[in-house]
Amino acid sequence: MKTAYDAIWGFKEDIVELRKDFKEHILKAHTSQPVGIPLHRYEGQLALDEKSVVLSGKDEDTRENFRQVIGLGEVTDVFLGWDNVLRRWRDTRAWIKPFRLTFGEHEKSKTLYIYAKNNGKRVYGNKNEELSEILGSKLPHMLRRSTALNKNAGAELRFIGVVERTKGEEARIRIFKEYCPGLRGIEEYSHLIILYWSHLRDNDKERQTLLVFPRRHEVNVEKGVFACRSPSRPNPIALCIIQLLKTDKCVLTVKGLDAYEGSPIIDIKPYLPRADSIPNAKAPPWTEKGPQT
Ligand SMILES: C[S@@+](CC[C@H](N)C(=O)[O-])C[C@H]1O[C@@H](n2cnc3c(N)ncnc32)[C@H](O)[C@@H]1O
Repeated sequence: MKTAYDAIWGFKEDIVELRKDFKEHILKAHTSQPVGIPLHRYEGQLALDEKSVVLSGKDEDTRENFRQVIGLGEVTDVFLGWDNVLRRWRDTRAWIKPFRLTFGEHEKSKTLYIYAKNNGKRVYGNKNEELSEILGSKLPHMLRRSTALNKNAGAELRFIGVVERTKGEEARIRIFKEYCPGLRGIEEYSHLIILYWSHLRDNDKERQTLLVFPRRHEVNVEKGVFACRSPSRPNPIALCIIQLLKTDKCVLTVKGLDAYEGSPIIDIKPYLPRADSIPNAKAPPWTEKGPQT
């Protein structure tokens, strides 16, 4: 099976660059948009076969030929819709959703924004849905991922601090300078909820964990990760309620934190007895044994 479309496209960095140059407020996806600058950098053909997506055409800036072969195995995400790079109402009035394709791993990862159409037809993008369905059906695991991304497009963590030192029951948390103003008023609380990143479990194997034996609680029956507090889980986010002993500028001294030194801090929230304490809440008997969480 081979499918070919006319297409225009740009890499994420091209779109970001184009946005800097805004003259007429919007990026133009196709000829029926009367004003704006084209949101693409390249124009040509997109061919799709069993193994790859091939983009070939011209770089409209340099007029040089362009060719990119993307093996389907390299594709890590496909998504139909606007996101925080190509924003619908702020960047483009196009009613046709851009097709986003990410390929390559880690720092070599690249993201393309594509508008595909039937060969010779006028409106770029009217084949984006078809393209998304074809690629999605070839890559069902990615479609699931992109659906999740769709719900929280552009979600990203920003670590706000680090567990600098632990000694016995006490720990010192340093909040990075740029986030320090966010601590104002924190000393009015005796207890805080700390969310930290279990960074030593942040690898593919641990993040695929869905069933665990909570052995420290003397349980020898597998439990789902969402039914226990295992640090191995799809997102290694840990939660701990601690006592706040001291606040000194950007440093909090706390009691009862179960994080290792070096654990990145994701967030801090005040513990509110009225909201966070449910004295008659039910939990299975095994949680009574072993460490608190
Ligand atoms: C069972 S987890 C529970 C974490 C948290 N209280 C919760 O309920 O989400 C706590 C254990 O994770 C381990 N741990 C602490 N910091 C970690 C880190 N940065 N990476 C991996 N494991 C960590 C320690 O053995 C600690 O006793």
